Amino acid sequence: MKPKIKHIALALLGATLLSGSSLASGPAKQADQRAPLVLLDAERHIVLEEMRNFLAVLQVITDALTREDMKEIARAARTMGSGAANEIPPKTVAKLPEEFKVLAGGVHTSFDLIALDAESLADPKHTLTQMSDLLQKCNACHGIYQIKVGRGTTVRK
Ligand code: HEC
Repeated sequence: MKPKIKHIALALLGATLLSGSSLASGPAKQADQRAPLVLLDAERHIVLEEMRNFLAVLQVITDALTREDMKEIARAARTMGSGAANEIPPKTVAKLPEEFKVLAGGVHTSFDLIALDAESLADPKHTLTQMSDLLQKCNACHGIYQIKVGRGTTVRK
């Protein structure tokens, strides 16, 4: 590299780094804009536990998929299906907005379908496609809501 070009390149690099650091320390980073679900600390714990169960079951299904163990996939998916025991107490459910419940219901229905199709079709590629659809549903809800601990009521959305 010619010395002059090298200087320009270094200057540009410096400017980029500087603007980056001012972004990190400045007010540019926006606060979490997702709609807050206002729950008691104990309720937040229950909801997050259910979330971690979702993730754990997705891991079991993914592992079973590598072995094309369709029976295990059906068994694991059913533990999160709409027939599974609802871990969230009615009092907490009552605090959740309708849209949240619809999105959560969609996830349980997806698990139902994964279980049914794993048994009847036994096609790992089909299951994988269903997993991708399911993960999109997880992402959709995560993009809309956050949990905040408090005694107030959730803003209906
Ligand atoms: C109906 C809405 C909704 C759906 C559907 C949903 N989540 Fe969540 N999830 C949440 C909310 C709200 C939080 C808390 C986010 C926050 O406060 O930042 C959360 C948090 C989590 C966490 C963090 C748990 C912790 O201990 O901090 C995991 C992991 C998670 N979700 C996994 C999943 C997976 C996997 C799926 C799909 C199978 C899923 N979620 C579907 C709403 C949802």
